[in-house]
Parts: sequence; structure tokens; C-alpha cells
Amino acid sequence: MNHQVDVSLGERSYPIYVGSDMVSSFAATCDKHGLSKNAVIITDSTVSKLYMKPLQKNLHHFGYQSAAIVIPPGEHQKSLARANSIFTTMLKSRVGRKTTVIALGGGVIGDLAGFVAATYHRGVPLVQIPTTLLSQVDSSIGGKTAVNHPLGKNMVGAFYQPKFVWADIECLKTLPQREVVCGLGEIIKYGIISDAELFSYLENNVENVLRLEQEAVLHVQARCSTIKAGLVSQDERESGVRVILNFGHTVGHGLEAAGGFKVLKHGEAVLLGMIAESFIAKELGMIDSAVFKIIATLIRRVPVKANLRLLKSARILKAMSHDKKSAAGEKRFVLPTKIGQVKVVEGISQRLILESIEGITTQQS
Ligand SMILES: NC(=O)c1ccc[n+]([C@@H]2O[C@H](COP(=O)([O-])OP(=O)(O)OC[C@H]3O[C@@H](n4cnc5c(N)ncnc54)[C@H](O)[C@@H]3O)[C@@H](O)[C@H]2O)c1
Ligand SMILES: [Zn+2]
Repeated sequence: MNHQVDVSLGERSYPIYVGSDMVSSFAATCDKHGLSKNAVIITDSTVSKLYMKPLQKNLHHFGYQSAAIVIPPGEHQKSLARANSIFTTMLKSRVGRKTTVIALGGGVIGDLAGFVAATYHRGVPLVQIPTTLLSQVDSSIGGKTAVNHPLGKNMVGAFYQPKFVWADIECLKTLPQREVVCGLGEIIKYGIISDAELFSYLENNVENVLRLEQEAVLHVQARCSTIKAGLVSQDERESGVRVILNFGHTVGHGLEAAGGFKVLKHGEAVLLGMIAESFIAKELGMIDSAVFKIIATLIRRVPVKANLRLLKSARILKAMSHDKKSAAGEKRFVLPTKIGQVKVVEGISQRLILESIEGITTQQS
């Protein structure tokens, strides 16, 4: 293990372990955390083929019984129907309330398996093993679990913290480039919302992260998990400061939904959403044009290869109006005031939102 970051939440505190080549010490860590010897691993078929065997081998070696539930990959698996089919499998196999749910995969598996762990028998222990860059720096930390509803993304869920997070960067080597791009969406976000040093590190090293160079990946992972752990420790249920993590996400969610979750992946939508929202900040005079240019220039070095012309402005605006983060119908935006600092703003005009969206959908990167 290379480093450990702690999420401080009283009796629900937990560590995030980050490093490379960690699989051989996984079961010993479960022992250390006092978990029972029974586990259900929830994963998708892609991740299962790559990482299930060594994980189960390590668990069995330490006397653990582990069953696997393998589902197809993809965002549309994050549904109540899929959660229900997992409940059925677990109930039929008489999975008890001390059994640990291990979420092995990206953010889709983390959110879905987390939701299952939060609700099965009113809650069973959960361990997150994130295997994508995005899930390692962001979604596995902080206890937000959810499934999607036809009327909106992440509409049904719970706050439910894991016993620990196990982020092995070795897993990233098999990740398709597009998923690395997605991870960079959240990584650049951390720089803009609270870490000017991380932002300038990325200005010098963004291609090294894209190439998954170990030193660069470990560096950004340490920074991002520390920032996220800090925000979650202060504000577990997003009633205050945690909201800044939504920078880029108000427009981002609209873009994702307008493309039916097919045109853009979450992290790609966040990359574009951050350009649009920084544009809004510029138009409102919160940042000057030079800062907007610096932000947009870094983001555009991360290649989003999607046909943005498929995204129609009217659909984006409509999708944004369903966003559960709209406070009483009023869209709340997290906007930069400088690199490393943001502010929550309400009452942005439809015209300005539209202009910001058109700025990205008509300019193919
Ligand atoms: N809970 C939170 O706080 C939070 C935060 C951000 C995003 N999210 C959610 O996370 C989800 C996106 O997660 P994601 O970007 O990790 O996508 P994902 O979970 O869909 O994974 C992307 C793809 O990569 C594959 N994959 C995973 N690990 C791999 C590996 N090591 N090698 C090769 N292939 C691998 C998967 O099979 C999948 O096809 C969205 O649903 C989003 O809403 C949640
Ligand atoms: Zn996100």
C-alpha cells in the first residue's frame, strides 16, 4: 500500500487504502476490520473476467466463503429492477446480515452494490473495490449509493458508508482510454473547486495521467481522495460544503440525460459541463476571460470523442429541470471565483444557460 486517507465520521469513519499490487493483502485487511468470513462479490462481467479469480483466491486462502453475482456492464444496470434481481439471488442463497457485500468495479457497480448493501436486511457491511479511475478518485468515497429511475439519474438511494475503500491502481492498466478520460473529469474538478496546486500539476502532467503513468496517477489519487474525504467528513449528507463537488454536474447531468446516457459517459459530461459552467461564471463577472481560457484549455487537452451535435439544447434544458439538485425548481450552480475556489449561485437566466450549452455542443473537441 502506498498511502491511506481517512474519512472521519465518528463511528462510521473508514480508511481509503491506495496503492499498487494490493490484491494479496485484501483478505487480511478484511480480518483487520473485523468482517465475518462470508462475502458476496457484486461485479460486472468485464471486471469479473479480469479480477475475480485473484480476489477469490486471496479470500479463500484466508478462510473466506465468497459467492459472486455477475451482471452485465453499463449505466442502465443501475436500476431498481437489477437491485431487485440481486436481492432475489441473495435471499434464495440465504445470505445473512453479517455477510459483507464487496463492490468490485466502477461507479455503476459501486452505486448499485452500495444501494443493495444499504437496504438488504436493512443494511449489511460494505467494502468498495473501485476499478476505474473515476471510481477510485471519487464515487467509491463518501457513501452516496443509488439507482436510476426513468424520471432521473440517482433518484433512489441512500447514504451508506463502506467499511473501507480498496483502490489498487494496478487495475487501471486494463481500463479503456475513454474511461481514463472520464476519471480526468472528476480529477480536474477537484483542482478547480479547491486545489490550485493540483490544477497546476495537471497543467504539467495531464498527458501523464492519460497514459496512466504510475507516479502521476498516485499523485492525483492522493490529492483527490484527500479532498473528497475532507469534504465528506465535514458534510456527510450534502447539506453544506459537499455541494461543491457538483461543479460541472448541473450542466453535465443535463448533457448525459439528453443523450440518453449513450452519447456521453458521466465523466465526459462533467468535462464539458465544467466548460459550460465556467463560461457562465465568466459571463457573470465571477472570473475573468483569462481564467476561463486557462480552465477551458486544460479541459480540452482531455479528448472527449463524442458527436456532440446529437445533443439538442432543448432536451438538455428539460433534463436539467428534472435534476433533484434543483432547489425548489431553481437551478443551483457551483461556479468558480478563481482556480481552487467556487461559490453556489442561484437565479441564472435560461438565456445564459442556453448560451453556455451552445458553446460546447457546437464546438466539437
Ligand atoms: N456515488 C458517487 O458519489 C458518484 C460519484 C461520481 C459518479 N458516480 C457514478 O459512477 C458511475 C460511473 O462510473 P464509472 O465511470 O466508473 O463507469 P462504469 O462503472 O460504468 O465503468 C466503466 C466501464 O469500465 C469497465 N471496467 C471497470 N473497471 C475496469 C478495469 N479495471 N479494466 C477494464 N474495464 C473496466 C466496466 O465494465 C464498464 O464497462 C455513474 O453511474 C455515476 O453516476 C457516483
Ligand atoms: Zn461526478
